[in-house]
Amino acid sequence: MAETARNIGGVSLVGSGSATPKQRLTNDEIGLRVDTSDDWIRTRTGIASRHVVGLGESLTHLSANAGQAALDMAGWSLESVDLVLLATSTPDDLFGSAPKVQAKLGLSNAVAFDLTAACSGFLFALVTAGQFLRTRAMNRVLVIGADHLTRWVDWDDRRSCVLFGDGAGAVALEATSYEQDGLLDFCLKSDGSRGDCLTLSQVDSFNSLVNEKNFQTGGFLPVEMNGQEVYKFAVREVPAILQELLSVNKISADSLDWLLLHQANQRILDAVADRFSIPHRKVLSNLAEYGNTSAATIPLMLDEAVRKGLVKPGHLIASSGFGAGLSWGAALMRWQGPA
Ligand code: ACO
Repeated sequence: MAETARNIGGVSLVGSGSATPKQRLTNDEIGLRVDTSDDWIRTRTGIASRHVVGLGESLTHLSANAGQAALDMAGWSLESVDLVLLATSTPDDLFGSAPKVQAKLGLSNAVAFDLTAACSGFLFALVTAGQFLRTRAMNRVLVIGADHLTRWVDWDDRRSCVLFGDGAGAVALEATSYEQDGLLDFCLKSDGSRGDCLTLSQVDSFNSLVNEKNFQTGGFLPVEMNGQEVYKFAVREVPAILQELLSVNKISADSLDWLLLHQANQRILDAVADRFSIPHRKVLSNLAEYGNTSAATIPLMLDEAVRKGLVKPGHLIASSGFGAGLSWGAALMRWQGPA
């Protein structure tokens, strides 16, 4: 797939943005509700706090703020944007939240739609957007990863509620020449046969309609997770897919400037880094502050690293997203930044 794409054109990452809710919930505060402790959560996950959507905020609002920041960094005019691609599993409207984001941002020429691939969503959206740009069907795309999982966790289930937070991150992508390509290669995978270890499924109840016919009630059950299975999946598949990508592209782990993984658990980040002997200082992490924000983690982390001056123009980044589906993927990218 990537070989074909290379014959056409390139993709440049020219802007980033992020937004998180105002409310910051600490581990000690969660301990007021369920039987847990700051020590347990920090030791097992690396998480110290998370941000939770409160009154006056929403997924659409966070996504628009993140998108606006990316547009500002890229210096794009509103009418020049061709597509808003919103990766989310938790839209404000099941018909899709991307058009609301497009309207809020005033991107009148952009088509907008949602893409769902759980915690892998941003990476899948980045690669999808890349195809429109490589073929020159489009010139400028805003890719947003955002999730509002705190409305779908069971706040009385200590095994899962401590892990998640809300947030949004965005990247501005522009068509460029093959020589300047910043999305060097990618690999995406799914395995629905293993999907039961992490679900946010429909309520399975039916009501009577008429004439002994029935209909299924709308609504979702809270997030259900087999933590150990998810952990095993991540530490097996993420190194494997990264290895595949590095080998195909003849890139050594030493030459990477940064490892940018989905922020699920610090132990997963450390295990992947150790597998490649990548020093931990090259592993981007903001788990301590935000926890797992699902589709938002990668662009939120990227934006923070860019704004702190850690990620600089020309830096080579290996990224991997993984999560429910099961779905996982990896991409090799070079940050360009605004012109
Ligand atoms: N506070 C205190 N004790 C807890 C908590 C908690 N929050 N949660 C579980 N425990 C207890 C359990 O009840 C159990 O007690 P028991 O032995 O008396 O039965 C004990 O701690 C150990 O439980 P485990 O589930 O075995 O704990 P584990 O070491 O596996 O850690 C964790 C759990 C952190 C969820 C880990 O499995 C993990 O990180 N998995 C990855 C999951 C993940 O990242 N999911 C995010 C979504 S998916 C994604 O983004 C890829």
